[in-house]
Amino acid sequence: MTQRSEIGIGLMGMGVVGSGVARVLMQKSRHIAQQAGASVAIQGILVRNLSKPRAFEVPRHLLTSNAEDIIGNPAVDIVVEVMGGEEPALDYIFKSISLGKHVVTANKQVMAKHGPDILTLARKKGVQLLFEASVAGGIPIIGPLGKDLLANDITALRAIINGTTNYILTEMSLNHSDFSIALKEAQAHGYAEADPRNDVEGIDAAYKLAILSTLAFHTRVRASDVHCEGITSLGSKDFRYARELGYNIKLLAIARQEKKGLQVRVHPALVPQQVLLAKVDGVFNAIEIEGDLSGRVVFHGQGAGSLPTTSAVLGDILEIARNIASGISPTSSLLLREDIAIKPITELNTKYYMRLNVADMPGVLAQIARVLGDLKISIASVIQKETDEKVQAAEIVIMTHTSREASMQQAIQQLKSLDIVRNVGSVIRVEEWS
Ligand code: NAP
Ligand code: HSE
Repeated sequence: MTQRSEIGIGLMGMGVVGSGVARVLMQKSRHIAQQAGASVAIQGILVRNLSKPRAFEVPRHLLTSNAEDIIGNPAVDIVVEVMGGEEPALDYIFKSISLGKHVVTANKQVMAKHGPDILTLARKKGVQLLFEASVAGGIPIIGPLGKDLLANDITALRAIINGTTNYILTEMSLNHSDFSIALKEAQAHGYAEADPRNDVEGIDAAYKLAILSTLAFHTRVRASDVHCEGITSLGSKDFRYARELGYNIKLLAIARQEKKGLQVRVHPALVPQQVLLAKVDGVFNAIEIEGDLSGRVVFHGQGAGSLPTTSAVLGDILEIARNIASGISPTSSLLLREDIAIKPITELNTKYYMRLNVADMPGVLAQIARVLGDLKISIASVIQKETDEKVQAAEIVIMTHTSREASMQQAIQQLKSLDIVRNVGSVIRVEEWS
């Protein structure tokens, strides 16, 4: 490859992230050129709506609504895909790579579902595909997993990797905010996905966990392998009771290598207040990785938002630009081992928090204890939280010892069928740190 003094960028998307990328490429052009060793200039920007006002205004002639103007433009060396969604983003990425263009993407949905296939094509075509911004916004984590931690056998990964839900949970816990108001605030800050159900139902975190687990365990983990539960069924009381018991509630993404396979799951969890992840609030994300050599390492920072995400996208652009400028041509690849079995959630062993609304009368606890005892679920503590004398109801919170998920699911069904149980309010897994 020959050395180059000018590198062309084709930007696909000019929303929260794309506007940040355009702003930095234009306003910090000298710094970027110094770091790249060549000038880096935007050649075209793909949008849907040409007349929409933008957070950062660019010369009108750069905007296009025709993807061919980017993909087919010979002046574009690096296509930066920050549109989101599976299609047409995937199609544009494949076409760009097929034409020998390097690609930077922030798209976790595309990378979680098709990452290994796209990386294989990139290798064949001799180009780079980088995707640092697809997980945890401004936190460098894809790079460290692919380089600095590569010599480790990674045994576990625990993470808060969705800024929107962490913002909502923090607001609900510390400021007693209403769920829908906190979600609207997260959307106004530009943290939420185009369809915020992807955030609140845990799907965005599942995509990110699939990407991280594929890299960490060198096996293909698909988004559909990840057991996924969101935060919509949490009640405001759970935050109060959890705090009284010494825990915070977080949406955790967990991957763990066990003897018979890999556990990969996203769900709300009680996290002991003294551990680092319990203190990660607002839009901040954190990823804790356990390696046989490194021990426990934690990456912490802003997991969403225009400039933090732009930081990750620009880091990838600069890496590729430097290579082009100096005439070297590394390609992206992913070396995967044979498939590791994914363990079903029913095989999980963990502790549980349960909030039940029950009749306030003699013998109630005995009936509940019998159901749990018959299924070998051992009770660690029971606390009666509130009593409503008018309707003769009481709210109780049960903490269990380590139990099997399959038994807990059976217990929930049996408890729901008891006359004395008015409602099973919440069942939340408890994550312990040793
Ligand atoms: P966004 O604000 O919704 O912006 C999307 C942009 O893409 C818009 O400019 C839109 O054009 C354009 N676009 C979408 N579909 C298109 C199509 N079919 N043809 C042409 N243009 C199209 O999204 P975002 O928040 O910037 O997110 C972009 C990507 O970054 C997503 O993959 C997201 O998951 C990822 N990401 C976002 C964040 C964050 O904090 N927001 C953090 C990390 C990663 P119009 O403006 O004309 O509608
Ligand atoms: N919607 C995502 C989040 C954006 O809230 O974390 C960053 O990927």
